[in-house]
Amino acid sequence: MFETERLIVRPWESADAARAFDIYSKEAVTKWIGMDKPLDDPAQGEKMIARWADLAAKHDHRYGCWAAQIKETGVIAGTILLVPLPDPADGRFPGAIEVGWHFHPDSWHRGYATEAARGALQLADSYGLTEIFAIAWPGNDPSLAVMRRLGMSYLGRTDRWYDREAECYVLR
Ligand SMILES: CC(C)(COP(=O)(O)OP(=O)(O)OC[C@H]1O[C@@H](n2cnc3c(N)ncnc32)[C@H](O)[C@@H]1OP(=O)(O)O)[C@@H](O)C(=O)NCCC(=O)NCCS
Repeated sequence: MFETERLIVRPWESADAARAFDIYSKEAVTKWIGMDKPLDDPAQGEKMIARWADLAAKHDHRYGCWAAQIKETGVIAGTILLVPLPDPADGRFPGAIEVGWHFHPDSWHRGYATEAARGALQLADSYGLTEIFAIAWPGNDPSLAVMRRLGMSYLGRTDRWYDREAECYVLR
């Protein structure tokens, strides 16, 4: 999809199943991203990858949930996503696009999420997408810090998407 200084961002592949399981079996990751519970069976790694592929297939080539792989080591640091948000009931911001990030704890505190997200925003810009949202549950300070590092503007709290209240940022 794209490269940054330290990362290659590309589709998840079935060969990455063990790493996908490792990421999505961590409660420290899943509690912030709307998963009911962490994965508890390694076989679910493949299912997670299939889930990302299904999500991407619902949309056109511009969107997806991609693996952010560290060039130096080959390790997948996490998932970076650029996807349309579900259209909200209140009709505001129809067709809104979300940028998001789910990183393995062993790859936190190195700037990888911000770097991958910057790349995703540049990709969005190259597609002519002029308004990108990011949302996080209240209290997810590391994620909110990523939004601020990206230069996104705080819009406030909203329950417009995902049936619960979230902090909402936008980059226009
Ligand atoms: C949200 C999440 C991706 C943030 O990860 P993060 O590591 O804090 O964010 P970044 O990758 O941008 O790294 C920033 C940190 O790296 C540090 N850093 C180290 N080397 C760096 C470098 N070369 N360049 C930039 N920053 C660097 C920064 O100083 C900053 O440090 P801090 O964490 O002590 O403030 C991570 O917490 C996560 O995956 N959480 C679980 C899932 C989740 O909540 N997803 C979001 C749902 S809304």
